Amino acid sequence: SMTTAEMEERVREIKQLMGSRLFIPGHHYQKDEVIQFADAVGDSLQLAQVSAENKEAEYIVFCGVHFMAETADMLTSPEQTVILPDMRAGCSMADMADIFQTEKAWRKLTETFGDRILPLTYVNSTAAIKSFVGKYGGATVTSSNAHKMVEWALGEKERILFLPDQHLGRNTAADLGISLDDMAVFDPATNDLVYDGDSENIKVILWKGHCSVHENFTVKNIESVRKNHPDMQVIVHPECRRDVVEQSDYNGSTKYIIDMIERAPSGTSWAIGTEMNLVKRLIANHPDKHIISLNPYMCPCLTMNRIDLPHLLWALEHVMADDPVNVIRVEPSVTTEAVRALERMLIRA
Ligand code: 13P
Ligand code: SF4
Repeated sequence: SMTTAEMEERVREIKQLMGSRLFIPGHHYQKDEVIQFADAVGDSLQLAQVSAENKEAEYIVFCGVHFMAETADMLTSPEQTVILPDMRAGCSMADMADIFQTEKAWRKLTETFGDRILPLTYVNSTAAIKSFVGKYGGATVTSSNAHKMVEWALGEKERILFLPDQHLGRNTAADLGISLDDMAVFDPATNDLVYDGDSENIKVILWKGHCSVHENFTVKNIESVRKNHPDMQVIVHPECRRDVVEQSDYNGSTKYIIDMIERAPSGTSWAIGTEMNLVKRLIANHPDKHIISLNPYMCPCLTMNRIDLPHLLWALEHVMADDPVNVIRVEPSVTTEAVRALERMLIRA
């Protein structure tokens, strides 16, 4: 078996030999051992955009999770091959909105609300969910354009169904001034709305899904930072629960968090509520600032972490041999409507 140094050397060699025939996008939550070889590092919106713009790479070896690779496949041409170095790199949040449950929910919701409802989905969802949303005139959103997209959607229809992350949906709608009383949760387990009042008042219906990484940041964590580091500022991702976002000093997408830390003056202190690999990288890149994870145990996204150096090298060896493995191909029937949903976002992002 190869040493780490040998594997790194071979990845470098393959990248050199393949040149612009190969493109490696890497999400900010990926491990350093992978990120060091990324041709573009970004959040989910940026990676969707760079994939859409890349017309020359034959092989796109996507270092992220399954839904991101599906999006890259849908936004690139049929001649381009998208590869996910480990097929087990999924997203538990995306898996919380199953297309059959969603279609069933939609039948129920349209019985209640007629056509006065528009579906939106966080890009952290399967291609099938994006296609469902596209079919009914809705759009995708990411954490960096959610405000703009929810505002747009509520200008189109009286109410929205927001899939699959209840927290991003709730935090975004609350920021836009929508009362928590005008939001309901849709529970796919019971195929029903969780709501006390008159359903006619509901503006935002939140699918009952969440990110198991960002749900690990708690109000208790914030209280302990306030007590132990009174001068520390708390910044969290909007996939965190509402109470955590409310009690933080700042909240925003992955890119927003990175920009804030980069712009922060030397000597400032930060507790960050997002994925571990990114927090570790921010700590390493900013020795002049005091940075900790908001949850002292750190919160890795285990599925993101399945992409490692051995898997990357394995995928690249197959690309070199023009015998790709782990190819992500979304069916054309799904792609058509899903791309509509993505484009309704990309033209506004
Ligand atoms: P962003 O990259 O849009 O911030 O999303 C965070 C995330 O959880 C990606 O899976
Ligand atoms: Fe999914 Fe959360 Fe991991 Fe992002 S961090 S891939 S939303 S489980």
